[in-house]
Amino acid sequence: RKLVIIFGGQSSEHEISVISATNISKQVDTDKYELILIGITKEGKWLKVENISSMEDGSWINSRTSAFILPDATKKCIIVETDGEYKEIHVDVVFPVLHGLYGEDGTIQGLLELAKIPYVGCGVLASAVGMDKLYTKLVVDKLGIRQAAYEPVLDYEASKDFEGVIKRIENRFDYPVFVKPSNAGSSRGVSKASNREELEKGIKEALNHDRKVLVEETIVGHEVECGVLGKPGDVTASGVGEIKSAATFYDYDAKYKLDSLTLLDSKLPDGVREKLPECAKKIFTALDGFGLSRVDFFAREDGEIVFNEINTMPGFTAISMYPMLFEAAGIGKKELIDKLIDLAFE
Ligand code: DAL
Ligand code: MG
Repeated sequence: RKLVIIFGGQSSEHEISVISATNISKQVDTDKYELILIGITKEGKWLKVENISSMEDGSWINSRTSAFILPDATKKCIIVETDGEYKEIHVDVVFPVLHGLYGEDGTIQGLLELAKIPYVGCGVLASAVGMDKLYTKLVVDKLGIRQAAYEPVLDYEASKDFEGVIKRIENRFDYPVFVKPSNAGSSRGVSKASNREELEKGIKEALNHDRKVLVEETIVGHEVECGVLGKPGDVTASGVGEIKSAATFYDYDAKYKLDSLTLLDSKLPDGVREKLPECAKKIFTALDGFGLSRVDFFAREDGEIVFNEINTMPGFTAISMYPMLFEAAGIGKKELIDKLIDLAFE
């Protein structure tokens, strides 16, 4: 059977996706699947990529062959084009290893729905809602699981009355606060503001990433994460991992460049390790999740669990928590990838 792995993409998490996809590609059972690699450049050009090593050295972007998913549901194929010659290749399943916008947000999932090609991971709705922090908040509010208090800031409102927006936030929260674009991954455009000047700067910066921005109260606690795997009615949660970041918060640099520590058996407040996987499953289910997600929380010293965010296509880098958590739970990387692909056919 033919498995297409799509990676890269027009998102600020492009580079992470290349690393995740490289790692996943290496774990695919090649007795079961013939692997076809499609890389999307930052500009949005779709390329057929020859091999994994060109993903590792970056030379894949020089590929002269294009490859597209055809939306025609009667064909279930990709169209490959080299020097004006077009060829159809039948596809059985797609693993969209894309993080962030145009990939983790329901857009590529929509294309695959049209094409009626099975794909790994969450569908359109869960992907779109999970990518949008504001809409995720609205769903999780209904579950009675605590999350950071927040104020939405919309671009038209900020351009009409910026001072009014700042006043509203200052009336509600003490500094420091967190400023986040509603739609963005890997902490891009996120900042911590300890005074008015930083708040103003942070909101402007976040608005460069999205029309909607959230300002949130600061939650003091352990940054903890839990993986989920499965389908509605049959969801498994991993154990709980903790992130110890070198930076003031777990930002983009801390995630991928500095030495962030990923701890699988750190000392957490009483009850957290037991309660948190249940919360993760509840949130995944409420968002109509399918396949996989990593659900991120804060665990306060008093044992209270505060939901932070869900990632419907979590990273698979060497320091990523999702594969590590399942490995610790006895599901190795190869088996995990195999299970995820199997789920796509359900
Ligand atoms: N958004 C990144 C890839 C993660 O959550 O792992
Ligand atoms: Mg994310």
